[in-house]
Amino acid sequence: MTAPAPHAEAATAPIDLTDVDMFVSGAHTAAFTRLRAESPIHWNEGADGSRFWALTRYDDVMWAYRNHEAFSSARGAIVGGSFRSKADTSAGKMLVSTDLPRHRMLKQVIHPAMTAGSAKRVAARVEGLLDRALEQARRDGGCDFATDIATELPAGALMEIMGIGHQDAHELIGVTRRMVGYRDEVFVDIGGDERLRLAWLQAEVFEFFADVLAERRRSPGEDLVSTLLKAEVNGRRLTEEEIFYNCMNVAVGGNETSSYTACTGLVALMDHPDQYERLLGRPEVVSTAVEEMLRWSSTNAYVQRVVERDTERGAVTFRRGDSVTLWNYSANRDESVFADGHLFDIARSPNRHLSYGAGLHRCIGAPVAQAELSLLFARFAEEGLRFRPVGPVRRLRSNFILGITRLPVEVV
Ligand code: HEM
Repeated sequence: MTAPAPHAEAATAPIDLTDVDMFVSGAHTAAFTRLRAESPIHWNEGADGSRFWALTRYDDVMWAYRNHEAFSSARGAIVGGSFRSKADTSAGKMLVSTDLPRHRMLKQVIHPAMTAGSAKRVAARVEGLLDRALEQARRDGGCDFATDIATELPAGALMEIMGIGHQDAHELIGVTRRMVGYRDEVFVDIGGDERLRLAWLQAEVFEFFADVLAERRRSPGEDLVSTLLKAEVNGRRLTEEEIFYNCMNVAVGGNETSSYTACTGLVALMDHPDQYERLLGRPEVVSTAVEEMLRWSSTNAYVQRVVERDTERGAVTFRRGDSVTLWNYSANRDESVFADGHLFDIARSPNRHLSYGAGLHRCIGAPVAQAELSLLFARFAEEGLRFRPVGPVRRLRSNFILGITRLPVEVV
């Protein structure tokens, strides 16, 4: 990694984007507003020893997303230790950690599992699960929305995409949740070496898929695991490790994001009663409401790229090997693109948020996520479903995935 040129760092603000407490407390929103104004391309020296650039303005983030020749995805998405970091072997194997041309070939294999058609089948599956979960919440007078309802969104998607049962889907959600929550004592014992812990958690995900793979070898189906098993990329079959990585990519990509977005969406509605009222009884606003929840939550707060060749942007030179983070969260509140970006407005239009990323690696699961979230909030609109908080909201300890792990509510 190369030290920045002295002129590159304009601000003196001691903001550290690796400070997870800042994200858990909600102070990151104000921190990003300051960074966008004072140090939009920020050189972050983390207390954890990590060093990276942080792009905080919409135009800079979009520029980096589109400049995939200069900014490589092959070295992992998380700064300072990751299941896709330099230390692991996912580079060139897992869709999100590949560059062209291999990315294109892998995507051709995985994409058919994520089309509008599969999103429709996922929606049908999720619908049945939501019927049951919402009915139960009504009978009990309330629930933990985070664990009892929101997790049914990825459960339905996994059942359809991976061809697994409801119980297995929840088991897999539990495993990936521990992996994404690898710094959160609610999910894991946070003592010991962080990298070893991650390796161990990743092995759990692989073990889950090893069982599924053995089953699909015996009896192939139409699911993604069977597809990966028979796929050829560049004239050769995928190795078991490649199959595991890509199953993990879809599972991690899909499990945490849509359910956490649903939770943040509900909290936003409860925090903004006027917007909640606007949604109830008006199914026609569901589509803009879901977009606004995606923008508001920016569940995947940032993605990382590593500089492939020296590149300039304004006064800043990114040197080969530098780590660069693209902050979707900050771009989504950039006041030069979003009028009143700090306002939660379920009718916002246009709403060109970057929650799914952009460019080559733009979320392949977006149609699936869209179907899940639209279905859930359409139920709110159609059935006049009104929830009220009855206990403390608990946030995931992460600066990468902004999630809510406990959300006790009552049905009003
Ligand atoms: C609200 C829901 C979701 C959000 C906010 C989200 C966010 C993202 C983002 C920001 C990226 C870009 C990563 C990068 O550029 O490095 C991405 C990629 C990806 N997402 Fe999602 N995602 C969501 C739902 C899903 C679902 C439901 C699935 C699967 C069922 C999924 C699977 C993937 C995969 C496989 C990639 C890698 C695509 C590639 O590298 O070409 N995501 N997602």
